[in-house]
Amino acid sequence: MKKMKNLMALVLALLMVVSLAACGSKDDAGKDDEPKSAIEEIKAAGKLVVGTSADYPPYEFHTEIDGKDTIVGFDIDIAKYIADDLGVELEIVDMNFDNLLMSLDNDEFDMVIAGLTKDEKRALTTDFSKPYLESKNLILVRTADEAKYTNLESLKGAKAGAQTGTIPYDRCVTYCGEATTTGLAKVQDLVMELKANKLDVVMLDYMTVLTYADVHDDLSAVDVGIPSDGEGYSVAIKKGNTELVTYVDSVLDKLAADNKIEQFIVDAQKLAGLEE
Ligand code: ARG
Repeated sequence: MKKMKNLMALVLALLMVVSLAACGSKDDAGKDDEPKSAIEEIKAAGKLVVGTSADYPPYEFHTEIDGKDTIVGFDIDIAKYIADDLGVELEIVDMNFDNLLMSLDNDEFDMVIAGLTKDEKRALTTDFSKPYLESKNLILVRTADEAKYTNLESLKGAKAGAQTGTIPYDRCVTYCGEATTTGLAKVQDLVMELKANKLDVVMLDYMTVLTYADVHDDLSAVDVGIPSDGEGYSVAIKKGNTELVTYVDSVLDKLAADNKIEQFIVDAQKLAGLEE
């Protein structure tokens, strides 16, 4: 009960940061190699294809609905909202996080929605919508060891793990040390290794850490003060497709105006097994 309240307070605080940041967004004009109309193409195909890595509750994850394995999460609700706005079906392609941006570039899907954080390095090769939520990293540890981790300094030399190809992975290398950091493709495997004492620290995005800590009695979330990674979770779109970026930005504005994202998060947390 208490954890859930803390989580919602954090989510609301971060949403406010994003709406302030959104006021100062710059425009991205001046590219002349953009496809004529990506939106027309999606409408003609009758489906919006979205790439994700469904191992990240409550952003995107697998669950059983009416006996059927289904990908759910608040990112998936955002994807559905965009598909509905376009009047087309939603198709989700699930793969390892590490391959998403390359597959986007190879035209395997129209966009990536995957708790993916916009940063300067990725922006060199990929375009991004405005952020829909501020991002933040926490660590997941065994509850028995919780007191050992108090600040960034306490991470030095920890047997740590993070998801390959993610920003938390790079941070883990910085704060825990390259020699002691392990990268794995799937978040579930990191959590298993943590429970089996093979890893002592797992670095992930905050809502995933808080979800695992809430669902597993032997795991806890710790905020060791990992610096913000800047711009927040954004929809990734193929480089040069400014028409689609502008369109997705306008849909995100509608979502924000209707306070939909908070509701999507609450729904996703329930599906992920978080108590109210
Ligand atoms: N926010 C982090 C990043 O962009 C990690 C995202 C991982 N997402 C996932 N669906 N596994 O690098």
